[in-house]
Amino acid sequence: MTNTVLITGASSGIGEATAKYFLQKRWRVSATMRSPAKAGHWATDPKVICPPLDLTKPDTVETAIQETLRQFGRIDVLVNNAGYALMGPLEGVTSEQLQQQFQTNVFGLVSTMQAVLPLFRQQRHGTIINVASIGGRIGFPMTASYHGTKWAVEGLSESMRFELKPFGIRVKLIEPGGIKTNFIHQGVNWAIHPEYNQMINQVKQFMTRINDTLPEPDSVAKAIYRAATDRSDRLRYSPHGELFLLLHTLLPDRIWRSLVERMMLER
Ligand SMILES: NC(=O)c1ccc[n+]([C@@H]2O[C@H](COP(=O)([O-])OP(=O)(O)OC[C@H]3O[C@@H](n4cnc5c(N)ncnc54)[C@H](OP(=O)(O)O)[C@@H]3O)[C@@H](O)[C@H]2O)c1
Repeated sequence: MTNTVLITGASSGIGEATAKYFLQKRWRVSATMRSPAKAGHWATDPKVICPPLDLTKPDTVETAIQETLRQFGRIDVLVNNAGYALMGPLEGVTSEQLQQQFQTNVFGLVSTMQAVLPLFRQQRHGTIINVASIGGRIGFPMTASYHGTKWAVEGLSESMRFELKPFGIRVKLIEPGGIKTNFIHQGVNWAIHPEYNQMINQVKQFMTRINDTLPEPDSVAKAIYRAATDRSDRLRYSPHGELFLLLHTLLPDRIWRSLVERMMLER
């Protein structure tokens, strides 16, 4: 029987590339998105459905899963991809901004896992793939809120894999480095505070400077597919993040810090 993947945030970027890649590999794809009208032409394939799913609206999670089961009869892999970044100094973040950030990147992600787990336990197999970030392992300037969510995703995923193993359910983490998507320009919200204007501008300039040099999301889609199909218990896959992770581990903290400051905070 053809395998089925359910992906959150499949309207653009890594989610869309992943949906297309699984489709190319002849999977059935439930490409969920907040606004199904955003789906590209690829989504007219009969192996694709696009149920509405907004991580800030818990009822849409259950409805999207039920719709997927009604159309395809099964779910084998859940890819928790949807997310955005709240950037800026923590001192300037409002509680609404922080709640929205954690609601989307953490609580929403938890709600999709909780919604598929009864099914995965019953069928005694299933793979949950959570898209974190190298920002879930390393903190960079002006990213406290966003990286806080990704560290949370790392922690809960690493812990959950032990409790889910007896049920034949695997948990995987994808930790991309910078990738060229809508993320930097449309997927980022900024918290502001006048005392931090200089650093905010430096980080904005850094992001604009690097955007055109970043790799396309296809390579992350391939890493997600590998995580779904390699039958291993490997937890972490870090497409385009390996070098940073290696340097962060190997370099003395003093040298690592000055490297980050020179890279991101130069005028
Ligand atoms: N690009 C990078 O450099 C990078 C690096 C590391 C990790 N990541 C992670 O990769 C994931 C995908 O990001 P991307 O780079 O592909 O950016 P993107 O092109 O902006 O895609 C983000 C997706 O998440 C969706 N989304 C946002 N809020 C949502 C909500 N409340 N409910 C449902 N969907 C929601 C967006 O939907 P709309 O179209 O409706 O806005 C969009 O489909 C994110 O989790 C991000 O943190 C990205």
